Amino acid sequence: MHTLNQHYFKDFKPLLTVHSPGRINFIGEHTDYNNGFVLPTAIDRTISFKFRKNDTSSTCNIYSKSYNAFLQVDLTHVRPSENEWENYVLGVIHELLLRDASLEGFDCIIESELPIGAGISSSAALECGMAIGLNILFNLKQPLEELILLSRDAEHRFVGTNCGIMDQFAVVMSKKNHVLLLDCKSLDYELIPVDISPYKILLLNTNVSHNLATSEYNKRREECELGVQVIQQKHTEVQSLRDVTLAMLESVKEELNITTYKRCRYVISENARVLKAVQELKNGNLEAFGDLMYLSHEGLQNLYNVSCDELDFLVDYSREHEHIVGSRMMGGGFGGCTINIIHESAVEAYTKTVSEAYKNHFKRELTAIVVNPSQGTFIKN
Ligand code: GLA
Repeated sequence: MHTLNQHYFKDFKPLLTVHSPGRINFIGEHTDYNNGFVLPTAIDRTISFKFRKNDTSSTCNIYSKSYNAFLQVDLTHVRPSENEWENYVLGVIHELLLRDASLEGFDCIIESELPIGAGISSSAALECGMAIGLNILFNLKQPLEELILLSRDAEHRFVGTNCGIMDQFAVVMSKKNHVLLLDCKSLDYELIPVDISPYKILLLNTNVSHNLATSEYNKRREECELGVQVIQQKHTEVQSLRDVTLAMLESVKEELNITTYKRCRYVISENARVLKAVQELKNGNLEAFGDLMYLSHEGLQNLYNVSCDELDFLVDYSREHEHIVGSRMMGGGFGGCTINIIHESAVEAYTKTVSEAYKNHFKRELTAIVVNPSQGTFIKN
């Protein structure tokens, strides 16, 4: 092994270039690991991966342009690292090896257009781009669904977030100008055409990412599982919150502590909202769709308790603007972005006023990006 530096990657001639997008989620938050419904899609911002083989049996040289950092991996000794970004890459390699993939040495340059910690899943983009790239480079013949699942497993094992399947699925399976209604129980999905013009999708990044995120995320998952265990005592057929109705939940309310009750109530209601939102979208009723987004936020804020002051501020601020039909926090929570459906004529002025208000209040910059529903991970040299 040699010491990696920029020089090694000079005049890099890739054999393969993969682009892996971030994702948004219109509605259906924290439902995926409860076997529920989600409505995400990929966006037109990606992480790119340039790959080449390097004729060694087990040395992989990776350069992250965004971090200006190098990572060397010995395929015979893949272990978690102290650096979080490295764990996404190492985790995927590890999962592929667990599945007996015949990997050999390779070089890779990674470059990202995705803000980190913004709730648009730069992590899944990184995992899936790596998994799909290596699958092609070494002709591993793993089906897409397996690559999605192993990317999620990489996050569980090497990063420590017990995430659901939404992000990886959306990053890989999305289609331009469509949203993806995913049933996280069966992994059946429907690609629904979406044309919301003259409205736009505006993401407002709080630029905060509270360190609670991972521990509280895993805690929510445990709280939901606890709820299921209690409900199962009376309703033995129940396997996850997906199978629970509000009436069933009420029937065991006495046996649940208030926190568990609130978590379960949120998830059950959110699942119903996703299905309703899909109907409204198909009927072209964007106002009603937007109202459901607001209700989703309220649930995340008050019942699921994964929002934060910055996100609540942005959602509340949007309520006073008639050009915005819906707004909510997006992703795991405790920071990251809000997603806003806003009339195109108002994007510029609104971005300016909300940024000023945010800065006055939190002494912090807000970052705005307009995104479009786009295709999942793709190859383009
Ligand atoms: C993160 C996780 C997803 C999902 C969302 C919340 O993005 O990776 O699996 O649970 O949070 O909806």
